[in-house]
Amino acid sequence: MSRSVPPIVPAYPAGRPRRMRRTAPLRAMMAESVLTAADLIWPIFVTDVAGADVEIASMPGVRRLTIEGAVRAAEEAATLGIPAVCLFPFTDPALRTEGGEVAWSPENITNRAIRAIKAAVPEVMVMTDIALDPYNINGHDGLVRDGIILNDETVEALVRMAMAQAEAGADILGPSDMMDGRVGAIRAATEAGGFRDVTILSYAAKFASGFYGPFRDAVGASGRLVGDKKTYQIDPANTDEALRAVARDLAEGADMVMVKPGMPYLDICRQVKDGFRVPVFAYQVSGEYAMIEGAVRNGWLGEKVIAESLLCFKRAGCDGVLTYYAPRIAAALKG
Ligand code: PBG
Repeated sequence: MSRSVPPIVPAYPAGRPRRMRRTAPLRAMMAESVLTAADLIWPIFVTDVAGADVEIASMPGVRRLTIEGAVRAAEEAATLGIPAVCLFPFTDPALRTEGGEVAWSPENITNRAIRAIKAAVPEVMVMTDIALDPYNINGHDGLVRDGIILNDETVEALVRMAMAQAEAGADILGPSDMMDGRVGAIRAATEAGGFRDVTILSYAAKFASGFYGPFRDAVGASGRLVGDKKTYQIDPANTDEALRAVARDLAEGADMVMVKPGMPYLDICRQVKDGFRVPVFAYQVSGEYAMIEGAVRNGWLGEKVIAESLLCFKRAGCDGVLTYYAPRIAAALKG
């Protein structure tokens, strides 16, 4: 809800705001936003490449997981009350092609991980990412011809990818590619293909950000990317364009929308919530994690900033947040 200044602010000494800050129970009683485990989506990296299930150098504390590791993570999510995990693959470099065809193979690492998690921990929802960058050799989210990212051809590939994920049992599809028309095309295909209940959380307000760097290390896309993603992701300068992107994705059938990155875009979160009144999620991306975790590990910031960095999304109107801190913060909230 957008707020105006309350009409009555008694003057000092009748008004002493410190009265209500005096004790922890008073402060808790008047807390306007709360973060709970139920608000969290936990992004995890999966791989079946021997030796690749290691910590990611630019994301200290985050490891790539084997399929068995991903199943254990989902079990941990269930124990901690985290409702969903979101899978990102580190694909065997030998399987990466110009067209990224392995993206829609039912046997790719993502689809095998979906099936393994749904078989072992059906109560934990599995979200997926729909974009070609973890599967191709050029690091772009779409098909590339002569340096141009092709829109309509990419959408066809993304639909195949979405259907393979839905067939594997994904609960939430997350198109992160920013091609035009992809949400509508995926929605039409899932409806026609009998997946009427699969939800779409579209990366709607996705900005061309430098904060994705560590993620690209994690999925093995770093060093591959030629050029940048500015012809499909949104200019960080733009609000109206982001709101139009949200409106468009909702009109095409998205059930929920995302703002990404998170903390530098809290103004966008608030405007999306106030403007559309739909489920809104922020993605606290890899670079935000790296920044916070780096400072905490160096002793430059206290660990408290982690909870603060997540609570701010609730205050900004988000219903939930994708964060690499999900298990840590859920454990802290529990304990
Ligand atoms: C794939 C994708 C990206 C992220 C999520 N899905 C990277 C990108 O768009 O370059 C970034 C997530 C993060 O940084 O944590 N297109």
